[in-house]
Amino acid sequence: MINRNIRMLEFPQRGDERGRLVVVEGMQDIPFDIKRIFYIYDSNTEVIRGQHANRKTEFVLINIAGKSKVKVKDGRGNEAVYSLDRPHTGIYLPRMVWKDMYDFSEDSILICLASEHYDPTEYIRDYDEYVKEITGGQV
Ligand code: TYD
Repeated sequence: MINRNIRMLEFPQRGDERGRLVVVEGMQDIPFDIKRIFYIYDSNTEVIRGQHANRKTEFVLINIAGKSKVKVKDGRGNEAVYSLDRPHTGIYLPRMVWKDMYDFSEDSILICLASEHYDPTEYIRDYDEYVKEITGGQV
């Protein structure tokens, strides 16, 4: 079974006659303080992004417009696919999860909330290296 900490999150919606408002507060709606936000748009169904794991950073991914999919792997042979298609729903990804983001609709805006500032040295971009770190070399 894939890492149990990976989970979909539902955020409070405070809609009224003026429109909808969704709130995401660090340490309340998501399990970390938000240090960084980036967003991905103008992708398409041909593109695969991510393809890395992070030694330190936890993420929450939300498709605030359009849709995409996230495939997660645990380095031990388990994988799962999640669809992101609602602005009030996100996926929580703990550290050391391999992730591919793909199947972006043309109108997709994928916002990524991160627990750490950007540090390229905490990214693992080689899948074999990732499996080695996960299993401690005991594959
Ligand atoms: P990349 O990690 O390949 O994006 P994704 O996770 O969506 O596949 O990052 C693309 C480029 O942007 C790369 O040159 C690194 C840079 N970048 C930053 O400078 N800061 C950031 O917070 C992120 C996520 C990327």
